Amino acid sequence: MRRDIMRRSAVLVLLLAGLILVAQAQELRLPNKEGSLKFAVLGDSGHPGTGQTAVARQMASWRTRFPFEFALMTGDNLYGTESPRDYENKFSIPYKPLIDAGVKFYAALGNHDDDGQTQYKLFNMDGKKYYSFRPQNGVRFFAIDTNYVDAKQLEWLDNELAASGSDWKIVFFHHPLYSSGATHGSADLQRGLLEPVFLKHGVNVAMTGHEHFYERIKPQKGVAYFVIGSSSKLRKGDLRQSALTASGNDSDYAFMLVEIDRDEMYFQAINDKGMTIDTGSIRRIGKAEPTPDGRPSR
Ligand SMILES: [Fe+2]
Repeated sequence: MRRDIMRRSAVLVLLLAGLILVAQAQELRLPNKEGSLKFAVLGDSGHPGTGQTAVARQMASWRTRFPFEFALMTGDNLYGTESPRDYENKFSIPYKPLIDAGVKFYAALGNHDDDGQTQYKLFNMDGKKYYSFRPQNGVRFFAIDTNYVDAKQLEWLDNELAASGSDWKIVFFHHPLYSSGATHGSADLQRGLLEPVFLKHGVNVAMTGHEHFYERIKPQKGVAYFVIGSSSKLRKGDLRQSALTASGNDSDYAFMLVEIDRDEMYFQAINDKGMTIDTGSIRRIGKAEPTPDGRPSR
């Protein structure tokens, strides 16, 4: 009888410990401050199926606790054909709860995406393959088309970054300049073209996709790089052992929540079961202090 009670107590303790662990993994790790900039990031998201459905569901569920206003799409927004029906089946139906709640999606083009996507209202590209927007004072985003980085786009990027002064500068695009993926790896060609421009203007963060996993790269020359390409497709076991990796996950579908509060950017990557797979923060460096006449010093 006594042994029975002891066994039951042990089971109860284990059960409670398990519940606490699950609760911790599903805990919001971002400050969730009033007035901060809140957004989500998803990538390679245009493949209907259980992964996409589960990630979309998690995004909507987390949004009830963390009211993000918009989402960045790192490309491969629609796999396969792109008829009006495909836009529905591969995007507006799976993400309907978010769209209905007023979440704005900002897309970058991936290698599977037709240029026609720039005309799609819900991707907010305004007919352009590369564009920038500033959702809040002090933070500017730049969507880059890494399918074809020509001189014209580089000149645009150079001018746009220069004009953004002391804002946080966050770039997003498809091909990762740094990646530990066995399938693709780092996009050397694009890196050679874009990295000098990023460094010249003090880009802080780059969100990318293409590889179907999650990877946070150790900061490269002061720039924080993320690969978020497992929001509807997953390439299990594709992450190689690499000195580049600060954190990685190639076993779960995933997306990311981000919050910017003054000079700090907080992030939390979450899988399709609502469990946290990575979390941390980035402090903005290279901020241009305003000069006495109110203009940035560089
Ligand atoms: Fe891709």
